Amino acid sequence: MTTWHAVANLADLKVRKRKAVTVEGIPVALFFINDTVYALNDTCIHEARSLSKGAILFGKVICPGHQWKFDPATGEPEDQDGCQPTYPVQVTDDGEVQVSVEVPVVTS
Ligand code: FES
Repeated sequence: MTTWHAVANLADLKVRKRKAVTVEGIPVALFFINDTVYALNDTCIHEARSLSKGAILFGKVICPGHQWKFDPATGEPEDQDGCQPTYPVQVTDDGEVQVSVEVPVVTS
């Protein structure tokens, strides 16, 4: 059974667009992009900068370190190798954003 962790309020995330949280010791960056909430590991796979301190541009998460552009749904960087771990997200009827970090979503 999936363990969900309450990490944010949807209304707050809609305003802030991003939020850094820690779930079971894992740094997670939440983003609200194009009416969807995404959760990625907050530590960039390139040189460990914090993605939650980056920008959102044209639907991508831009790392503040060296401007790699990550697809928030898949964690895949544009024109780079590797993949930023992403995590399942659900939003309850009363607007509670929940994340599970048990199994990162893997794309190939
Ligand atoms: S640390 Fe993220 S792109 Fe370099």
